[in-house]
Amino acid sequence: MSGSPPELPIEVLDALMPTSVRLVTNRRGSMVWEVESGRGHYAVKLGYPIEATADWPAQPWTALAPAREGAVLHRLGFDDCAYGEWERGTWNFQPWHEGPDLYKMWELCRRRDSPIAPNVGVALECVSALAELHAKGWVHGDVQPAHFIIGLERTHLIDLALARGGHIPKGYDFPFRGCLVHYEAPEIARSVLATGEAKPTQKADIYALGASLLISATGWRAVEYPDDAPRPVQREAVAAGKRRPVKAPGELGDLIEVMLSHAPEDRPTIYEVGKALYCL
Ligand SMILES: Nc1ncnc2c1ncn2[C@@H]1O[C@H](COP(=O)(O)OP(=O)(O)OP(=O)(O)O)[C@@H](O)[C@H]1O
Ligand SMILES: [Mg+2]
Repeated sequence: MSGSPPELPIEVLDALMPTSVRLVTNRRGSMVWEVESGRGHYAVKLGYPIEATADWPAQPWTALAPAREGAVLHRLGFDDCAYGEWERGTWNFQPWHEGPDLYKMWELCRRRDSPIAPNVGVALECVSALAELHAKGWVHGDVQPAHFIIGLERTHLIDLALARGGHIPKGYDFPFRGCLVHYEAPEIARSVLATGEAKPTQKADIYALGASLLISATGWRAVEYPDDAPRPVQREAVAAGKRRPVKAPGELGDLIEVMLSHAPEDRPTIYEVGKALYCL
């Protein structure tokens, strides 16, 4: 790690007084930094608008995402977080969670002819993290393998920028326009295609968790479409329920199939998923 760069907003520098700073990612309107300081270990997120290109419309909402997430974290009762504004958008900081994500965790299971099966305990950890959010009456809206950080003591479900379930300050709120298509439930894809927006639900989170477990265990997406297909074409395939004939091994595989049910009402709740896993 190197010394603190000038890119971090002054309020963040004042609050955290970093001793070391590392840029983790900078893509799609969002920068994430890992910051160590006398106060603790933090993730700092900075949002900025995505300009229009030949392939993309402008996406000004990415500038608001960190403040929106900060408001969600406060609503959920996490105190060791803050959020505010910088020249190009908004920022937040939150505790850093150490550990591999779900996709990384199951890397060895995905090798061809691997004798290692996906660990049910890890799946249960992810279920617990989502169950905690659902129990509070919230919806995550952006469940994906990279958002489960498998820690030694517990698993954390990160990136609550699209979560819904409580009041968000008006100036930082924006409509839900779908998530990463690989994890998007058919009814969400259909609504985004029809209106540009959708209503995230707990049942859509279950589908996304099923798709996350499937890709992490097997390396395959739940739905069949070419890698380079334009986003609306991907969404058409999801909306039509063009499932790939791929299954995770054993009873975990059977459970994932039900989570990926086309009709939301056929999907189990997160508690039912937990109970089923617990019995495996
Ligand atoms: N609290 C945290 N603890 C540990 N790592 C984190 C934390 N927050 C973010 N990260 C890391 O930064 C990455 C991006 O964070 P996050 O998903 O919250 O931001 P994002 O703007 O939504 O990015 P993306 O568009 O890739 O989803 C995560 O995949 C993770 O590696
Ligand atoms: Mg994210």
